[in-house]
Amino acid sequence: PSCYSAVSPFKRGATETCELADIDWDDLGFTYVPTDYMYSMKCTKGGNFSKGELQRFGNIELSPSAGVLNYGQGLFEGLKAYRKEDGNLLLFRPEENAMRMIMGAERMCMPSPTVEQFVDAVKATVLANKRWVPPPGKGSLYIRPLLMGSGAVLGLAPSPEYTFLIYVSPVGNYFKEGVAPIHLIVEYELHRATPGGTGGVKTIGNYAAVLKAQSAAKARGFSDVLYLDCVQKKYLEEVSSCNIFVVKGNTISTPAIKGTILPGITRKSIIDVARSQGFQVEERLVTVDELLDADEVFCTGTAVVVSPVGSITYKGKRVSYGEEGFGAVSEQLYSVLTKLQMGLIEDKMNWTVE
Ligand code: COI
Repeated sequence: PSCYSAVSPFKRGATETCELADIDWDDLGFTYVPTDYMYSMKCTKGGNFSKGELQRFGNIELSPSAGVLNYGQGLFEGLKAYRKEDGNLLLFRPEENAMRMIMGAERMCMPSPTVEQFVDAVKATVLANKRWVPPPGKGSLYIRPLLMGSGAVLGLAPSPEYTFLIYVSPVGNYFKEGVAPIHLIVEYELHRATPGGTGGVKTIGNYAAVLKAQSAAKARGFSDVLYLDCVQKKYLEEVSSCNIFVVKGNTISTPAIKGTILPGITRKSIIDVARSQGFQVEERLVTVDELLDADEVFCTGTAVVVSPVGSITYKGKRVSYGEEGFGAVSEQLYSVLTKLQMGLIEDKMNWTVE
């Protein structure tokens, strides 16, 4: 449909027509599609953010000596909005992203918006861009909040000014495989994170650090890279863009959060969903040997949602887990999670926000 009859969450009862943007909704991947508005809010001395505002989407101006450009003082978040059949829009656990940004900002010596400021800004940005939220079943609106040191520095020091910015883009599947299984290679020389480092927060540098191994893996036909701990080089950490889960019988194991792994909101949600479905879930050290011996492996993340892993390659050895589609466990968890996110089943946990 080119048009929806939607009830705005901020104007209950008021029926308004919401035209959809004129793009091919059947062809969404995970590439940037420019939308109408972005949100911007600044913080100078004192650590409090002033009132933010929506602006037409466009390039931003930064001093060449901005802290984020010179010393990588920056964080980002990722969350999604879904359009329901009745036209209402649903966010999934936005307060969790706000709290993770607050935690990350503390590690990166930055002030952060409050949970309320963050969630209000997300809502305002989504509503301003609502024609870009895909029709039900066609994808979601990916929301990318950024927090950066935008003030000028020369000597190494925290920036004197910070900018919180949100932009959005309609997205479909993250991996080019779509919902087909992905193929991972285990990297044992390059590392994503170190104990005491910043691997556990969503700072921009963590993602730059994986590009070399990821590019090499993609050139060899792999979908992405799975990283190991940098001390013993035998425990799983995470994939460049998502967390990892290993299934053996009725037990689902995932690396524990200990500072080098991103505390994924989808990870945390899948753990709760799996427990509610009767699985035993263990957060602990998980070895490469267990991975290679697993019945099923899958990844979770906001962008990737739940992605089945079809094969793992480690030191030249390839182990296959079923290359056709989801395994039984990942399919069950994917189904419950996405139905919750899209408002198709009762949200007993109160995870969604209209
Ligand atoms: C997300 O899943 O939202 C992320 O931030 C991962 C990113 C590499 C797309």
